[in-house]
Parts: sequence; C-alpha cells; structure tokens
Amino acid sequence: MKRVVFNQKGGVGKSSISVNLAAISAAQGFKTLLVDLDVQGNSSHYLGVDESNLPKDKTVADLLKQTVGWFSSAPSPEQFVHATQFENLSLLPASPALSVLERELEMRYKIYKLRDALKTLEKEFDRIYIDTPPNFNFYSKSALIAADRVLIPFDCDGFSAQAIDRLMANMLELKADHNRDLIAEGIVVNQFNPQAKLPQTLVDELKAQDSVPLFATHLNSSVKMKESHHQQLPLIHLAPSHKLTHQFVELFKELEPQHQSIV
Ligand SMILES: Nc1ncnc2c1ncn2[C@@H]1O[C@H](COP(=O)(O)OP(=O)(O)OP(=O)(O)O)[C@@H](O)[C@H]1O
Ligand SMILES: [Mg+2]
Repeated sequence: MKRVVFNQKGGVGKSSISVNLAAISAAQGFKTLLVDLDVQGNSSHYLGVDESNLPKDKTVADLLKQTVGWFSSAPSPEQFVHATQFENLSLLPASPALSVLERELEMRYKIYKLRDALKTLEKEFDRIYIDTPPNFNFYSKSALIAADRVLIPFDCDGFSAQAIDRLMANMLELKADHNRDLIAEGIVVNQFNPQAKLPQTLVDELKAQDSVPLFATHLNSSVKMKESHHQQLPLIHLAPSHKLTHQFVELFKELEPQHQSIV
C-alpha cells in the first residue's frame, strides 16, 4: 500500500504526518518505507538524515537521475534505500539535487519513473509513505501517479479551506489522466484546537462540502510536535503516551482498521 501525503499549501503538516504515521506503521511491525520528495528534506532530517550525513549518490534524486540516459544495467531502487535507527523503518532520502534535476526530468517525460521504482520496492515493503513538496510540481505529480491513496492534511486555517477546492480539481484531473485507481482516502485535520471556535467551524464547512471524507481523529496542536522534530524522534518514540501520539495511533487505526494496535 502506497500512501502520499499531499497538500500544495505549505506548512500544513505533510512532513509531520508522513513521518509519524510511517513510524507508527513500523512500530506495529509493518516493513515501512518513507520517501521524501521535498527538496527541503524535512522528513529526512526528522529521521536523522540531513546535509551533514546525506548518503552520497544514494538519494531519491540519484534514483531518478539514473533514469536519464540509457543504461544496460541500471541500479535497482533498493540501492537507494537506507535503514533508519528505528526498527522496520527505511528512508529514501531527499537531496538538494532535486531542484536542479526537476526540469530535466520533466523535459524527458520521466513522470512515471517513481511509480516504476515504487512498484519494485513494494515487493519488499508492506507500507510506503510519500512526503511531498508544497507545490503541484513534477515531484508531487509523480507521487500522486505512483500512489494508491492520498491523505490531505488540513491545518484549520481559512486559506487552507479555500485551497482544498483547487487541490481537489488538480487531483481529479491528474487521476483522470494518469492514475485512475488513486483514492482520496481522507482529509486529516491537523493543528486542531478544540477550545477555539474557528477550527470547528472550518471543519464543519469542509464536512458539508462532502467532496472528500474527513478522518474522525483530529490531531491537536501541541509543542510536542516541534520538540519531536528538534530531537529527530517521531512521537511514538519520543512520547508514546502523549495525547498527540494517541491521536496519531487512532488515525493509523482508521487507515488500518483490520489490524489490532499494539501501542
Ligand atoms: N499538530 C501539530 N502541533 C503543533 N505543531 C505542528 C503540528 N503539525 C505540524 N506542526 C508544525 O508546523 C510546522 C509545519 O509542519 P510540517 O513541516 O509538517 O508541514 P509541511 O506541510 O510538511 O510543510 P512544507 O509545506 O514546508 O513541507 C512545523 O514547525 C511543525 O512542527
Ligand atoms: Mg514538509
């Protein structure tokens, strides 16, 4: 199962949600891969890989770069995957090279190459999560073409509500043209503040639109998230009994209803 976390709006929680769901998935015993397609590399950093220890020639950019040109024996996608310090959790890291590579990949029609690579990797991994950049660009389109399902973070902000319509229009067009099996699995309400009136109003308005289902679990706003990024420890490892961690576990259960939680 390949899930992409996408919203073209910046800062809504794509990286936080993809890393924390992937970490819970791994902790529950699923062999899990996180693919970081954002040149910012926030998910990679969160899982302990940044520019100081970026594996040379072994990032998602290198995987895509080797599809340019003709090779009699191209390296297999497995060679670009790295173990993390967390059991069952592997990473296909981002790299600053993604930005210079984008135009060349686009010009050479390489939009299906990520899908092909993930089809191969899916034989080895039970669950794949893909973090995307805050743009409807070559990489996020590649991810939406490669994925089975899409999760849409929503950060309870008025601008975000407006952005959902545009996002859905873009996604439906891409689905019709390139990936008819793509399922918009649901909107993940993030940075929810149950004490304030506006977040609930915005959530109710989204529900009334009825274009995509909303997950019942809402993720509260908590400083624990920033601490977790800073310590490069997903919440399930940093604070297993924290309320936000429980909410992530509940969200994970909504994704995997047939599996009994061990956390
Ligand atoms: N539930 C939450 N509670 C508190 N802070 C949060 C929560 N979710 C995300 N944040 C914070 O909001 C900021 C943006 O989150 P994140 O990087 O996950 O968003 P993003 O959509 O991946 O951003 P970008 O579009 O830049 O890739 C980060 O500082 C993160 O720590
Ligand atoms: Mg991000």
